[in-house]
Amino acid sequence: MRNTIISMYQPSHLASLLPTMQSFIESATQNLYLHSHKQEKHIIFSNFSLKLATDIIGQAAFGINFGLSKPNSTNDQPKNNEASDFINQHIYSTTTLKMDLSGSFSIILGLLIPFLQEPFRQILKRIPGTMDWKVERTNSKLSSRLNEIVLTRDKEEKRDLMDFLSLILSARDSQKVSRNLFTSDYISALAYEHLIAGSATTAFTLSSIVYLVSGHPKVEKKLVQEIDGFGPHDQMPTSHDLQHSFPILIRQVIKEAMRIYTVSPLIAREVASLVEIGGYLLPKGTWVWLAPGVLAKDPKNFPEPEKFKPERFNVNSEEGKNRHPYAHIPFGIGPRACIGQKFAMQEIKLSIIHLYRHFLFRHSPEMEKPLQLDYGIILKLQAWSQASSHQATI
Ligand code: HEM
Repeated sequence: MRNTIISMYQPSHLASLLPTMQSFIESATQNLYLHSHKQEKHIIFSNFSLKLATDIIGQAAFGINFGLSKPNSTNDQPKNNEASDFINQHIYSTTTLKMDLSGSFSIILGLLIPFLQEPFRQILKRIPGTMDWKVERTNSKLSSRLNEIVLTRDKEEKRDLMDFLSLILSARDSQKVSRNLFTSDYISALAYEHLIAGSATTAFTLSSIVYLVSGHPKVEKKLVQEIDGFGPHDQMPTSHDLQHSFPILIRQVIKEAMRIYTVSPLIAREVASLVEIGGYLLPKGTWVWLAPGVLAKDPKNFPEPEKFKPERFNVNSEEGKNRHPYAHIPFGIGPRACIGQKFAMQEIKLSIIHLYRHFLFRHSPEMEKPLQLDYGIILKLQAWSQASSHQATI
């Protein structure tokens, strides 16, 4: 089953998504121009990046243009009502609800006394006002909207095979995968998993890159030189260019930003059968937490770990040569590693190239220092710091 899904992230399919990604990025950047023409110097970059990433994954996962980042879009007005309701719920759940470790009482309780988590969740989800209740309500609204989208697409006779949803429905129709396995509910869940996994993560990473670069003028200068040296500003990079023509951007700045702010600081695994790891005997059913965020700050592998030093990812640096190969694993590792890694990297690179071709960013004086983060399964900017902004200058 994973193979069916992985085929959608093959280089050829990703390359075909380049023009779509680029057009969303260009359209979103128009908003920055509108801001600067209106002399509104401060923009909330984390909102900008979340809308952009949601639009891109919305198109790639559902074939729907949510229209969040189009110029002048204050209220999101996608073409149809199901999509509009759905995306408003999704943005609400991403920005307002804390669907992470600190989010609901039942989850916190589950960490301390696991067997009490489910009974308490069942009770709390019925008590209006609790986080469990809000999460339950939002989840059920989201899944019913999503089911409508899937059912509508399922009925379409001719599907444009560019998005995840259409590809997976067509794979099911052509009997490449089992109908019993790929039920409508299951397909909805898969598509939603992609939306969740592919929006806040990429948006946060884009924000953190811009935040760090704008605080390090020497890095910014090198980055802009590399981007300008590539060619005329209207020349869209190909997949090959993205992989080979931006060594500073690709190998250094993005990796270092993802090291400083590891978007998934924790990854969980459940032991399937008795196993020994590092001298510890782990019985079946044991939960093991891998902490890429801690690994990324280990001074043995990253001297002066709190400093933003993209050059540490220069392949020829001594530091890089001595580093353990698994010291930096922002996309996880092994057979369940992030399926969307290449998709995310393509989107982030294209966005950075386009943004820095047109703008430089500065921290707003209104921004809190240091940046306040929410630590959960996915790292987030706190509500407070979403009010912080970057000043864009042309
Ligand atoms: C900077 C952006 C991203 C980061 C840092 C990131 C990171 C991760 C991590 C750490 C995992 C867990 C891996 C593990 O358990 O070993 C994961 C899983 C996943 N990611 Fe991403 N991700 C990003 C973007 C995306 C995008 C854009 C998509 C979809 C297009 C995506 C889809 C998924 C899916 C479907 C899984 C679950 C895979 C499975 O369970 O087999 N991710 N991601």
